[in-house]
Amino acid sequence: MSGRLAGKVTLITGTAGGQGAAAARLFAAEGATVVGCDLDAGRSDAVAAGVRAGGGDMVSFGPVDLADADAAAGWIAGAVQSAGRIDVLYNNASAPRVGPFEELTLEDWRFTLRNELDLIYTVVSAAWPHLKSSRGTIINTASVSAHRGATFTEQAAHGAAKGGVLALTRHLAASGARHGIRANSISPGLIVTPQIAPFLEDPEHPMHEMARSHPLGRLGAPEDVARVALFLASDDAGYLNAVDIVVDGGQAVIV
Ligand SMILES: NC(=O)c1ccc[n+]([C@@H]2O[C@H](COP(=O)([O-])OP(=O)(O)OC[C@H]3O[C@@H](n4cnc5c(N)ncnc54)[C@H](O)[C@@H]3O)[C@@H](O)[C@H]2O)c1
Repeated sequence: MSGRLAGKVTLITGTAGGQGAAAARLFAAEGATVVGCDLDAGRSDAVAAGVRAGGGDMVSFGPVDLADADAAAGWIAGAVQSAGRIDVLYNNASAPRVGPFEELTLEDWRFTLRNELDLIYTVVSAAWPHLKSSRGTIINTASVSAHRGATFTEQAAHGAAKGGVLALTRHLAASGARHGIRANSISPGLIVTPQIAPFLEDPEHPMHEMARSHPLGRLGAPEDVARVALFLASDDAGYLNAVDIVVDGGQAVIV
């Protein structure tokens, strides 16, 4: 198959969700072999079936709780058994808890750190020997929440976890450079996916005002992020390392 990712084995986490599914479809359309996974096995399997129906190459594993080190290692082992190697590891999955700081419990804090930061450590640790063999590349998903305080709601744990993702990415780039492993991150702004859908159901939610006041006149779509991930996964980004790309249509800077 031809395309910008022809011949590359790309692992994507969270392929049941908005951005993960969009990336899986785009990467497969660009010739990649895609190995996905999610806690939600049914939805991720459906994404994989859709990719295969369109002539693409994708398998999905699940349910996999990636914050569990054994489960993460099991996914990586299964992916290598299935596809033979890992060229690209796109850490997209996450599950945050947001809301007023006064209401943030220690349990919420730990849940968020576990499902936004631990799950990158577990997956990268298991994948590291394979990334060394292939001189592969890592794409991590941070957030504009790591760059600024005020957004649509208070989100101290989410911002701290994603700040951790930014720092971890730089350290992975430092540790990986001598092995030919590059690591970069994407910081999405507000992207319309299942993760924010519950907020949009409330017509009074401040997110609607963020959409109205957005410099480009709309919130982001999963495909906006997937196209940037495609660039980072491709050879076009071969000299990009330890970089974070903000994908928010300029909202954080302009508004
Ligand atoms: N949507 C936004 O506005 C936005 C903004 C900034 C950053 N992000 C980040 O973008 C990435 C994708 O988000 P999305 O909006 O597509 O969310 P989403 O909720 O649609 O998808 C996330 C997927 O991750 C999976 N997941 C969560 N925890 C998991 C675990 N422990 N093990 C395995 N799978 C797990 C979920 O089941 C879900 O399918 C996330 O890292 C998110 O934090 C999203």
